[in-house]
Parts: sequence; C-alpha cells; structure tokens
Amino acid sequence: MAGEVAFQRCISPECGETYSLDDARVACARCGNLLDVAYDWSRASTPRSLKAFEAKWSHRNDPLCLSGVWRFRELLPFAPPEKVITVGEGQTLLQRADAVAKFVGLNAGRLYLQYEGMNPSGSFKDNGMTAAFTHAQMIGAKRAACASTGNTSASLAVYCSVTGLMRAVIFVGSGKIAYGKLSQALEYGALTVQILGDFDDAMARVKEVAAELGIYLVNSVNPFRLEGQKTIMYRVLEALAWEPPDWIVVPGGNLGNSSAFGKAFAELRQLGLIERVPRLAVINAAGADTLYELYEKRGLRWNGGAVHEAIVDQYHHELDESRKKADTIASAIEINRPVNLKKCLRALEDCNGVVREVDDQHILDAKAKVGAGGFGCEPASAASVAGAKLLREEGVIGPDERVVCILTGHQLKDPTATVAYHSADQEMFNSVLGKRGVRRASFANRAVVVPNELDEIIKAIRLYG
Ligand code: F0G
Repeated sequence: MAGEVAFQRCISPECGETYSLDDARVACARCGNLLDVAYDWSRASTPRSLKAFEAKWSHRNDPLCLSGVWRFRELLPFAPPEKVITVGEGQTLLQRADAVAKFVGLNAGRLYLQYEGMNPSGSFKDNGMTAAFTHAQMIGAKRAACASTGNTSASLAVYCSVTGLMRAVIFVGSGKIAYGKLSQALEYGALTVQILGDFDDAMARVKEVAAELGIYLVNSVNPFRLEGQKTIMYRVLEALAWEPPDWIVVPGGNLGNSSAFGKAFAELRQLGLIERVPRLAVINAAGADTLYELYEKRGLRWNGGAVHEAIVDQYHHELDESRKKADTIASAIEINRPVNLKKCLRALEDCNGVVREVDDQHILDAKAKVGAGGFGCEPASAASVAGAKLLREEGVIGPDERVVCILTGHQLKDPTATVAYHSADQEMFNSVLGKRGVRRASFANRAVVVPNELDEIIKAIRLYG
C-alpha cells in the first residue's frame, strides 16, 4: 500500500497480500490467513520515547486523552481523530498484590495484577471494541455482530447503546454464558441470538451470517480489535515506569489478547521504544486446552509463518471424531477452536513464550485468593494467576522475577461460580462445581447461618468476628 500510513496485510510472510483500510474482511482473499493492521512507521508521527505519552494526562478533558486506548493513538495510527468512538475505556489499574504473590510463590513486590474488569462493560474487550467500532464507523457499517462467551457481546452492546450508531447482533451458545454477561446484552438492547450449541458453533455460524448479510464482524478475527488490545500492554509498561516486566501471564481463549500483546511488543522493539521484550505465558483451562495441546505436546510453532497446518487439521479431526466439546467453569475461555491460533503462535515466538493448562479446581482457588486481595475477577481471569503459580512450582518463573497477570474480567460477571465456591450448601456446590471435578473450596468464606435472635447473632459475631 504505497503512500499509506496504515493498511491491512496478510500474516503469512509468503503471501503478504495487502488491503486498504476500507476493506472489512477477516481473512486474506488470496490464501485465507488472518490479517494484521500494518503501518508504514516512517510516515507516522511516532514519539521518540514512551515517556512522551505521560503528557497526555494533562489533557484529560480531551476524550482522546482520557481514553486509555486512544491516549496511545500514535501506536495504532489507523483512525483520524475525528472518527474515533470512545466511551472512556481503558481506565484500568495495575496493582501490586503481595498476598497473591505469596500464594503464587513470588517474593513481595514481584506480582502485579492488571485489572481490566474496571472497563465500562467490565472486561478487557472494551479496549478492542473501541478500535473495531471506530473502524466500523470509518467504513459506514450499520450493524455489527459477534459470537461470544459473554464479554464481547456485552462490550458490543455497550458501544451500540451508548452511541446509538449501530445495531448489535450477538450469537451466544445455549446455557453457556454467565448471567452477569447475559444480563448486560439483554438490558443494553442487543439482538440476542441463542444457538443450540457452544461457542465454537456460534463462531462458525456468525462468520457465515456476517458474510451473507454484510454485517460488520467484531470478534477478534477482526484485526482492528487487536490494535486496541495492544494498549493494555502500554498501560502496564506505563505503570511500571516503562520498564518491561519479566513475564506477562494471560488466559487464552480465542487468543486475541496474547496475539495483540505479542504485536505490541514486537512493534515497540521495532520502533526502538523498548530494548527488552517480556516473556509471554498463555494459560488454557484444562477443559479447553487446544493451544496447550498443539504448542506444548505436538510442537506446533509459528516457524517463520510456515505453520504445520496438518498438525492443526489432525487435532480438529480428533475433536470431531471424539465429539469433544470444551468444558470448564471458566466459561469465557470455553473454546476449542481458537480463531487467532496462528497469530498467537507468532506472539509466542516473538516473546519466547510458554503455554500451560490449569484445571477448574486451581482456577477457582486462585480466583478466591485474588478476590480476598481485593477487587476480584471472574474465573477465566484467574487462570492467569493459577498458571503463574504452576510456572513458579515448575521453576520456569523465578521467585524474584517481576510478573504481571492480566485479570481480564470483573468479579461480578459470574456470580454463580463465586457463590457456589463460597456456599455451605453442598447441593449448590455439587451442581455448579462438583460435576466439573472441583472437590474443595479451600479458601471459601462461608456465610454464618444464625437464628433470628439477638443473643445468637451476638454470640456468632463474638465467635467468628
Ligand atoms: N478472559 C475473559 C474474561 C474473556 O471474556 C475472554 C474471551 C478471555 C479471557 C480470552 O481472551 O479470546 O483474547 O484469548 N472472551 C470472548 C468473548 C471469547 O466472547 O467474550 P482471548
């Protein structure tokens, strides 16, 4: 794309076909691979130092400086400022978490939690949605669709209802979406299509429907989504005075975040804005562990873009043959066919990455520890902390390394999992968690049941308080 600052490019180095920004496509027309948003940095006005972004804080009454995404717009220069659609996303916190560090096996001051649940719709998705929504507006889209395990749909519904600019059409699997998230989509007025199937089914259908009806697709196959999600890493760096941590640990579902983080660091290094790239750990739930299986067990690699497709096809074939469906309490990452697999492989190569899987027991114990440390998160997010603990136990992460776990969604997204874990009601525990192999609630904070009598209540408070 001669002469353009930003364009789209096929991720396959062998193909490398380019497309203009006006194209709303989610795959290369020539070879079918995913697309990147690419930049000719020599034409962009990129600052010489990341410190320059700190000056934006003094312009917080400008919505583009208030947004934790668009504050970094020189690092995602695809949208003219007057076209940007923002609802104030990205006001998120990096918190030092010493109590959780102890649980993980890290020394005090070495673990940080990035609370992306503080976004307007309660998850990290808003970082990407503002970027995709902006692109949709740039090309005049009227309707936007996604398949979702709940957070993408909640985020899309927020942007549609707050701005009134587009109609949201969302596809969800039956009984597969946590109530906090479903309640958002319904209340914010999204057209909600419940498919008799799971996320992988909904994802396959929404791609067909979007192509057939010309609806703008906002799942993370949309390369503009990932541009917004890069900024999570910029905010982490900013909170650490621009000193990269040793590790970024992130849950893996559709693999958009991990892909975006890898791109963020590769670009920062290319631009000479950082010298060292953190290592990346992507954590699958054991009940939805395609990346772990392919990367750690079957040796699948990016391999300079020549990904060994036969390994992926064989695994998908095995999934079909055995009718294996994703199954985990971490419903946000209950995904067996991650659409960003190849981009994630590239990120793992760029960031010397590792992949691990953690089971529901460890996810819920980690979640309880995060919650006890304040703010809290939903189950999928806690996979990052459980994964960091596992990597510490293996000695892959050292006790003095600086680790950032990404907490992708708010604690209130999935009240059922939380209440079941802390409940003294064995029936509820079994019906929600026991059937998934969760046996203990080691860090439960149980409600104390007392008769409705003043003496008894006072006695209980004296005993437990
Ligand atoms: N954590 C949460 C809370 C999520 O909602 C998701 C994905 C992930 C982690 C996984 O992120 O796909 O970038 O690897 N949720 C999607 C959705 C699939 O539909 O809301 P990823």
